Amino acid sequence: MATTLDVLLKEQRVFNPPKGLVEKSNIKQWMDKHGIGSYEELLEKSQDLDWYWDEVAKELEWFRPWSKVLEWAPPYAKWFVGGKFNITYNAVDRHMKTKNKDKIAYIWEGEPGDVRNITYAQLYEEVNRLANALKSLGVKRGDRVGIYLPMIPELPIAMLACAKMGAVHSVVFSGFSVKGLQDRINDAGAKILITCDETYRRGGIVPIKKNADEALENAPTVEKMIVVRRTGGNVAMKPGRDIWWGEITKTQPTEAKTEELDPEDLIYILYTSGTTGKPKGILHVHGGYAVATYWTLKTVFDLKDDDVWWCAADIGWVTGHSYIVYAPLMLGVTSVMYEGAPAFPEPDRWWEIIEKYNVSVFYTSPTSIRAHMRMGDEWPKKRNMSTLRLLGSVGEPINPEAWVWYYKNIGAERCPIMDTWWQTETGSFCISPLPITPLKPGSATKPLPGYSADVFDDRGNSLTNAGGSVVLLSPWPAMLRGIYKDPERYQNTYWGKYPAIYLTGDMGRKDEDGYFWVQGRADDILKVAGHRIGNSEIESALVSHAKVAEAAVIGKPHEVKGESIVAFVVTKQGIAADEALKKELKEHVSREIGKIARPDEILFVPDVPKTRSGKIMRRIIKAVAIGEVPGDISTLANPEAVEEIKRAK
Ligand code: WTA
Repeated sequence: MATTLDVLLKEQRVFNPPKGLVEKSNIKQWMDKHGIGSYEELLEKSQDLDWYWDEVAKELEWFRPWSKVLEWAPPYAKWFVGGKFNITYNAVDRHMKTKNKDKIAYIWEGEPGDVRNITYAQLYEEVNRLANALKSLGVKRGDRVGIYLPMIPELPIAMLACAKMGAVHSVVFSGFSVKGLQDRINDAGAKILITCDETYRRGGIVPIKKNADEALENAPTVEKMIVVRRTGGNVAMKPGRDIWWGEITKTQPTEAKTEELDPEDLIYILYTSGTTGKPKGILHVHGGYAVATYWTLKTVFDLKDDDVWWCAADIGWVTGHSYIVYAPLMLGVTSVMYEGAPAFPEPDRWWEIIEKYNVSVFYTSPTSIRAHMRMGDEWPKKRNMSTLRLLGSVGEPINPEAWVWYYKNIGAERCPIMDTWWQTETGSFCISPLPITPLKPGSATKPLPGYSADVFDDRGNSLTNAGGSVVLLSPWPAMLRGIYKDPERYQNTYWGKYPAIYLTGDMGRKDEDGYFWVQGRADDILKVAGHRIGNSEIESALVSHAKVAEAAVIGKPHEVKGESIVAFVVTKQGIAADEALKKELKEHVSREIGKIARPDEILFVPDVPKTRSGKIMRRIIKAVAIGEVPGDISTLANPEAVEEIKRAK
């Protein structure tokens, strides 16, 4: 029998947020203070960027206030010009003056079940010890520090210590393997690499340091490696280069200097996949990034003093940078941090964590929701999750089935779902509901206050109820400040199509109520289980194998992961294209990039469709592979290759 919920969905009705939530929400209180009466009025008034962001930025502590909110010389923006600021001061230091000092910043749970509660005061001391240790190794303001750590407390500590002293961190997701790590630390020119012995994953051991050692064989800028002991496993330490974290921090003072930085000083480089094989080093800065991440978390997820926040992402991606590390700490809330695999040892591990620590606001991805959906309703039913009051989703469009499952089984039809649209480049949520926003399942709703977005056709006309390019119309404080060492790519990728307007790379539709329905990437970037991977990154890894001549990678729709990776491979002359080679190639990609990039399927073909200039036509390959009509193939240099794709096994 259809429940009211299913009927509501079918009729495409709007979910009005519960009154109690609206009345007590942080955003409503802020609106009352500013005499703003409605959501619509808030969106309109906040388009005065100078006024809006000036008001918001006052919530943080500045060593010196700014003289100008925004200087916009497209494609470069400067925010809070003339101010002096440090994000770590706001995330950690300032809590030493308040009752937050003894509050728990992180409830950390390791995969084997070990627990560490870390108070703000302890965090402060650990950050200071490491900052002093880094200084003793010669790290200075502006130097890059590579961080290759799994989800253990030393990861946020390392990031905060770098930011405190004005060094620039570059965190590499611990699921990347040797080559992925090597490329990133070399591009960043990291002076130090912070890593650990090993980590636990699904009951097994992941050899983190071993990967790091191999990566450093060809990473000439790295002088020292700091190693955290996580499992206590036996690892080789290279004399003169490797230092144990415990040893180097032990003797350091628990006070350290916090640099008074320009708000535009870099806080970090985070690499993300683009349309070429080379990842882009996305640049973020202290001031504007802090203001926007702090404020969006406070207003979208409505965090209050007694909330327990759990963002179940990995800090190796932007979601974790912004909403596990910096924003929750600036808000002084308690966060849960979990090291291991989601459904280990049993499918209810996550729900057990929610029950155990009284999590009140929970944020995850549609892929995880779909995976849990498959494991069955009985698992969340085992656990008491009545402390939850708000839920969130990020990383991909959330399909209505997953939305309803999440709403019913996790939120008990009580918790609105905040579907937040944003990117590594945007730093903070951009298109997202607030607790006062009427929801339409599957839509990230409207641009947040202080943001503006639209859907454009190729000529830059605004579209309603038709698919087009999602764009952001005005600058926002957490926007990327560039691509590391590549200003040209920054201009071309994001600002080349429509002057002074940010091209997101996503396709989507805006409905008659101004709600956004993001459909997915317009370019050659895959979203596999929420991870962003460039088709060409995987192709480069494949062709680096001695037996491969050419490769074309496409994403095929997948029920759980959103997309699965399918590779069409042309082998070199005389090579046996057999099952053994398929296996070998999958392993090769895992080793080169990481398991997240491992192809689900490999198909051998004698040739791949190409234009006369030699560009592989992934669009055509994809259409054929998923059984669609490929469109005009007459411009191909080798139209017969299309037939080969159909026949490929
Ligand atoms: C996609 C993740 C639909 C989108 C924070 C974007 C989404 C890319 C949503 C960025 C959402 C993110 N609805 N699609 N709520 N959130 N995306 O850089 O395609 O890993 O461009 O940042 O994820 O991925 P990234």
